[in-house]
Amino acid sequence: MRRERLSVLANGAVGPYTLLRLRRGGIDPGVPGQFFMLEAPGRLLPRPMSLCLAPPRELAFLIDPIGPGTRALCALEAGDELHVLGPLGNGFELDVDRPLLVGGGIGIAPLPYLSERLGAPPAVLGFRSDWHAEAAALVPSAQVCVEPTLVTELIPKGLDVLACGPEAMLAAVRALAPDAQVAWEAPMACGYGACYGCAVELDGRLKRLCVEGPVLRAA
Ligand SMILES: Cc1cc2nc3c(=O)[nH]c(=O)nc-3n(C[C@H](O)[C@H](O)[C@H](O)COP(=O)(O)OP(=O)(O)OC[C@H]3O[C@@H](n4cnc5c(N)ncnc54)[C@H](O)[C@@H]3O)c2cc1C
Ligand code: FES
Repeated sequence: MRRERLSVLANGAVGPYTLLRLRRGGIDPGVPGQFFMLEAPGRLLPRPMSLCLAPPRELAFLIDPIGPGTRALCALEAGDELHVLGPLGNGFELDVDRPLLVGGGIGIAPLPYLSERLGAPPAVLGFRSDWHAEAAALVPSAQVCVEPTLVTELIPKGLDVLACGPEAMLAAVRALAPDAQVAWEAPMACGYGACYGCAVELDGRLKRLCVEGPVLRAA
């Protein structure tokens, strides 16, 4: 884990989302599914973001502008600078025989880097509109569906599922594939175990998602 001030290379629209490309500096991209705390200009607390792509000398994040922090990140311009801390948490276990990537909405954010590290395995992605589905272009070998079709309808049996998406999607994935690896989210203030802001109940005990997760076994 390392904290550095990185400069923005570009910030471009991908459907309703924004791909924020930063100069990597000395920060390690880590394992897919790990996350970084990004300084959100004008906000007190940084915001957690999964690494989306790791081209040479770059770190790229796919951001959904849902609130003040994410909107400030999406408004950054080339040459702006921000503090970045990471990589943090536990990423996906990459030693799987027959991977299938499953993503929903902005939950596809960690999948481009995961796909690259796994050699472009099959992927199924679900979105709420054709506009949101433009982000599927970032994930090779992807089968895409748009509501009312749900991405869980596209999951064949017998594959090693690695999933990220909204809670309802992850609950449905868990019912279909109890051995799946899933990336969960909770609001996070520090990202490294100090504030307990991300504590969730797992197996009857409170655990910090930034330390035990964000990637967990579905069961
Ligand atoms: C490990 C991790 C990885 C993430 N990766 C990405 C990513 O790659 N791209 C991306 O766009 N977003 C990602 N997020 C979510 C992102 O961090 C939040 O959307 C962001 O912090 C919201 O900040 P804001 O100031 O824009 O909105 P806020 O005003 O803070 O939040 C807007 C609304 O969303 C809710 N909310 C905020 N954060 C979360 C959360 N984590 N889970 C559930 N509800 C939440 C708030 O309660 C509020 O209702 C990730 C979150 C985690 C924990
Ligand atoms: S975000 Fe602070 S303990 Fe997890």
